[in-house]
Amino acid sequence: MTSTVEPNRVADGSTRTAPVAELAMNETPYPPLPSVLRLVREGAERLNRYPDHNSGALVAALAARLGVPAAQVLVGPGSAGLSQHIVASLGPDRPEVVYPALSFEGYPLIVANAGARPVPVPLDGYRHDLRAMADAVTEQTRCVLICNPNNPTGAVLGRAEIEEFLDRIPPEVVVIVDEAYREFVTDPDVPDALDLYRDRDNVCVLRTFSKAYGLATLRVGYAVAPPRVAAAARMVGLVFYPGGLGQTAALACLDEEAGVELAARRDELVVARTRLRDGLLAAGLPVAPSEANFLWLPLGPAALEFADRCRRAGILVRPYPEQGVRITVGTAEANERVLTVARDTGRQVSGE
Ligand SMILES: Cc1ncc(COP(=O)(O)O)c(C=O)c1O
Repeated sequence: MTSTVEPNRVADGSTRTAPVAELAMNETPYPPLPSVLRLVREGAERLNRYPDHNSGALVAALAARLGVPAAQVLVGPGSAGLSQHIVASLGPDRPEVVYPALSFEGYPLIVANAGARPVPVPLDGYRHDLRAMADAVTEQTRCVLICNPNNPTGAVLGRAEIEEFLDRIPPEVVVIVDEAYREFVTDPDVPDALDLYRDRDNVCVLRTFSKAYGLATLRVGYAVAPPRVAAAARMVGLVFYPGGLGQTAALACLDEEAGVELAARRDELVVARTRLRDGLLAAGLPVAPSEANFLWLPLGPAALEFADRCRRAGILVRPYPEQGVRITVGTAEANERVLTVARDTGRQVSGE
């Protein structure tokens, strides 16, 4: 039976056939990297076979690429699934997890599913309030989640402020730095969290192939974790993840050819990000600076209305009621459609 749902069509009952611009999930707008797709297609011929349950080749390739011991590399079902697994494996003596709010909507779920107690710490503007987060750490704290760049605000934390923060965190508390959008960062002051991991015993780095590499469907994430964290995660280990196509695709992403393809797309996206932000600002909308593949429009009470205008124009964006709207940078065509809506409504939405 075939699906009756056409997910990429405007679903408002009209006869329009324009494809929906899907700008709500922070996915890359580009198709899979050609070199990766080729290997995935080949891999699909072997769907009847079990993959390597240790993801040995992928772990070894990641370790070599990142310059870390293979024992410190964990791969898992997306960085979200992997982070839940790590947070769970650190319990149960210290029940609390400190994390920023507003941030990745997965964090409250991850904390709850890991059987931990949430300690959300409000942002300072668009950015983590690192002082308040350090103040929130107590003897009850299991770990702290840092999102750099932050989803949904796109803001980044610089090297010095993160190091100052880490200096205040007791060594027994693990700090997980989620770098899901790292590939889109151009600000040289943003540290590579692997350097922080190398300098300390309590920093864990989380990354994903879902975003810049465009493997969201396959959901493969990885962590580089200090020995005790990696060992704990393995002890309660998720077995047999990721599946074979995920391993094949992620491995292919580490090849030189894929690196060249990725760099070109990343550059294109960064240019599109600037162009989209400039256009939105020119239309009179507030837009935070962004180092990720999305933009944050702090529209406050007008958020839902703007998202609805977009929806009626066949553009899916992510509203945060009373706070703002997150728009993923899309294709040139999709971005132009966003700007058309923005120009039509900007004056009204900004209250001029
Ligand atoms: C900050 C952040 N971390 C992790 C994820 C999840 O990534 P994955 O697909 O690897 O689970 C997302 C996805 O939106 C995200 O925004």
